[in-house]
Amino acid sequence: MLKKKILLGVTGSIAAYKTAELIRLLRKHNFFVQVVLTKSAKQFVTPLTLQALSGNPVLENMWEPTEGNGMEHINLARTADLILIAPASGNFIAKLSNGLADDLLTNLCLARSCPLLVAPAMNVEMFNNIATQRNIETIKNDGIVLSGPDSGEQACGEVGFGRLINFESMMLDIKKIISAQIFLNKKILISSGATLEKIDEARAITNLSSGLMGLNLAKIAYTMGAEVTVILGYSNYEFPPCIKTIKAMNHDEMNKSISSNIEKNDIYISAAAISDYKPNYTKGKIKKGKESISLELKKTKDILSHVGKDFSHKLVVGFAAESENLIENARNKLVSKNLDIIIANEIKNSMGKTKAKMVIIDQYEEKHLPEAEKEVQSKIILEHIFKFFSRVKAHDTIN
Ligand SMILES: Cc1cc2nc3c(=O)[nH]c(=O)nc-3n(C[C@H](O)[C@H](O)[C@H](O)COP(=O)(O)O)c2cc1C
Repeated sequence: MLKKKILLGVTGSIAAYKTAELIRLLRKHNFFVQVVLTKSAKQFVTPLTLQALSGNPVLENMWEPTEGNGMEHINLARTADLILIAPASGNFIAKLSNGLADDLLTNLCLARSCPLLVAPAMNVEMFNNIATQRNIETIKNDGIVLSGPDSGEQACGEVGFGRLINFESMMLDIKKIISAQIFLNKKILISSGATLEKIDEARAITNLSSGLMGLNLAKIAYTMGAEVTVILGYSNYEFPPCIKTIKAMNHDEMNKSISSNIEKNDIYISAAAISDYKPNYTKGKIKKGKESISLELKKTKDILSHVGKDFSHKLVVGFAAESENLIENARNKLVSKNLDIIIANEIKNSMGKTKAKMVIIDQYEEKHLPEAEKEVQSKIILEHIFKFFSRVKAHDTIN
C-alpha cells in the first residue's frame, strides 16, 4: 500500500525534543515523514537527529537551491497528505492566524491543499493569553484542526493547559483527519471489558475479557468521525481522553449505565463480557476451614437481550463468544435477542488475546474474517456496521 505522506513542521517550543519519538511512531504507523524546521526549532533539536530518524533530509531554508523549478515551498505542500505542526509554538499559531509566510514552514501552510493539524505546546500563561486564544479561534474558524493541548505539569514547572498532547491521542487525530468520516454526526455507545461480582468483602468472580476489542472499536470509530462513549468494566488498557469513558464494574452498574445512555446514541456495540451469573454477597470474609464449599450463583438479567427488544429503533451489535457450535449459537442469539448484527468468535481463539478469528453475521450476510489483530478486525466490523446502517436506513426502519 502507498504510504501517506506527513509533512511534520517542528517549531521553537521546548517540546520539540519529543519529536524524535514522534517521528519513530509515525514511521511505525507506516507514514512517510518529511520534516521541516523553523529557525527557532533548531535551537531545541538538531536537523541531523530528525534526518536520521525520518530517513529524509530535514528542510529549513526556502532560499537554498533545489532541483526542478526551485519552488519547494509549493511543491512540498502539493505532495503531502497532511501537514502536522508538532509542537506548534504560540508564535507560529499567531503567524498562521494572520496567514503570514516569512519562512519555509509558514509558506507551506499557506500554499497547502491538504489538511493542517496543529498541536500547540507552550507555557500555560502563554496558552491562556487572550491573544493566543483569539489566534486559536481564528485558525479553527479557518478550518485548521487542533490536536490538544493536554493539561498537566509543564517544563517550566507550572501546571495547566499547554502541554503537547500525548502521542496516542495525536495519532488518533492524525488518522481521523485523513480517514473517511463515515460516522460523522453519529454517536456510538460501546460496552467493554470484564465485570466483577463480589463473593464477600475480599473475593470476587470475573472473566477473561481484556477490553482490547472495545478499545480498538472505540479508537477506530473515533477516527471514522463518531462521537464515542465507552461503558468500561475491568480492563488493563488505558482509553485515550478523546473517548468518553464511564466506569461500570459489575453487572448492575453496566445495566444502569447502558440503559441510561443508549437513547442518546445511534448505535450500541456490546463488547463487554458481563456476568451471566452472580453469587449471593456474604458480608465480611468467608472463613477458610471446610475441605470444600459451594457457591450458589444466580442468573442475572440479560442486558443485551433487553436492549435488543426495548431499543429496537437503535442499531444493536452483539458479540457471541462460544466454545462450540459457533455459527449456530451465534445465529440463535442474533434472533432471540433481536440484534441487528452479531460477531461470533471462539473463546479459545479470542478472549484475552490480541488476535482473533471472527464471523460477522446479520440478516444479509455471513462474513468470515481470517485471524488478524483486533485492530484490523475492528475496522472491518465498523465498515460492516456502516454498510448495514446505510442499508437499513435506506429501508427507513431505523430512526
Ligand atoms: C528555552 C525556551 C523555551 C521555549 N519554549 C517555548 C514553548 O514551549 N512554546 C512556545 O510557544 N514558545 C517557546 N519559546 C519561545 C519561542 O521559541 C519563540 O517564540 C520563537 O520565536 C518561536 O519561533 P517559531 O515559531 O518560528 O518556531 C521558548 C523559548 C525559549 C528560549
